[in-house]
Amino acid sequence: MTPVYLTSTYVQEAPATHKGYEYSRGTNPTREALERNIAVLENGRHGFAFASGMACLDSIMKLFQSGDHIVCGENVYGGTFRLFDRVLRPMGLEFTYVDTRDPQRVADACRARTVAIVVETPTNPLMRLTDLAAVADIARRAGALLIVDNTFATPFFQRPFELGSGADIVFHSTTKYLNGHSDMVGGIAVVRDDGLAERLAYIQNAAGAVPGPFDAWLVLRGTKTLHLRMARHDANGRRVATFLAERVGERCVYYPGLPTHPQHTLAARQMTGFGGMVSVDVGTRERAVHLLTHLHVFALAESLGGVESLASHPASMTHASVPAERRAAIGITDGLVRLSCGVEDVEDLLADLEHALP
Ligand SMILES: Cc1ncc(COP(=O)(O)O)c(C=O)c1O
Repeated sequence: MTPVYLTSTYVQEAPATHKGYEYSRGTNPTREALERNIAVLENGRHGFAFASGMACLDSIMKLFQSGDHIVCGENVYGGTFRLFDRVLRPMGLEFTYVDTRDPQRVADACRARTVAIVVETPTNPLMRLTDLAAVADIARRAGALLIVDNTFATPFFQRPFELGSGADIVFHSTTKYLNGHSDMVGGIAVVRDDGLAERLAYIQNAAGAVPGPFDAWLVLRGTKTLHLRMARHDANGRRVATFLAERVGERCVYYPGLPTHPQHTLAARQMTGFGGMVSVDVGTRERAVHLLTHLHVFALAESLGGVESLASHPASMTHASVPAERRAAIGITDGLVRLSCGVEDVEDLLADLEHALP
């Protein structure tokens, strides 16, 4: 097994003569093993691990400068919007948010100083998809980097480097499916281009938002069972989505694996499975609270992607940092409940929902 190198520094043979490791902010053997592992899973060339998904995205954004323009999906994780709108916009980066379900809108939003297109697909929590091959072409034409948050799908179901001319940066909150056991927080970025890798390596060391070796080791252990877990998350997700569609109506259930999902054809083309994330709109905040407080197997908690099933209320939890009018405009209603279907016996999950639905 990969050892956990609990060391901040490394003995050198002579000044500036070392064995490849100087100081763990720059490189650590356990972290390096993780970075290589995820780079291979994504079919990329270089991986860069960070202390959280947000630390990862923040470090990626340090590639850009004041005055640069970024096109971003309008429905992304609330923390992504918060980082862009409250931290990076005041520092001079400019953002345009568009509905990336329509690639033309992405193309129309690009300007002379557009340096990047940031998309999350499927999105958190509305399970909307972006056609990655189409948007990769738009990014090429605009001379911008395509940055894809692949947290929900994981490389097991979707590999953005392989779609069309391919993404430039694929990143993850490793806190979720890659770790899979809800016992650490982390992030990782993968790139194919050597020049981009050099710039990210510089930022990773210079800004220093790196994970400790034990957290890196926990993700490494998680990836050994990624294929087993994802197959089960997917099987459970499909059953839960089908059950909910029967109970509350298919228009109120957001799951790309349902044939009634408006982007099911695209999902089947660019993903090899649909995973365990299912959102359901039960109508009102009161009904959502009823559901969330009556579930026993699904635990009411932030986060997703662990072996245990979780349920959350995006409007007051993961997307509380998105202003109410903006949430309403993109469809994150007060009645929306997000489910992360774990790997338990699916009959237990269905019975839990049956009992808790208002
Ligand atoms: C899709 C997505 N991207 C990024 C993040 C941020 O990752 P972290 O919580 O590890 O900082 C999350 C967290 O929920 C997420 O769901």
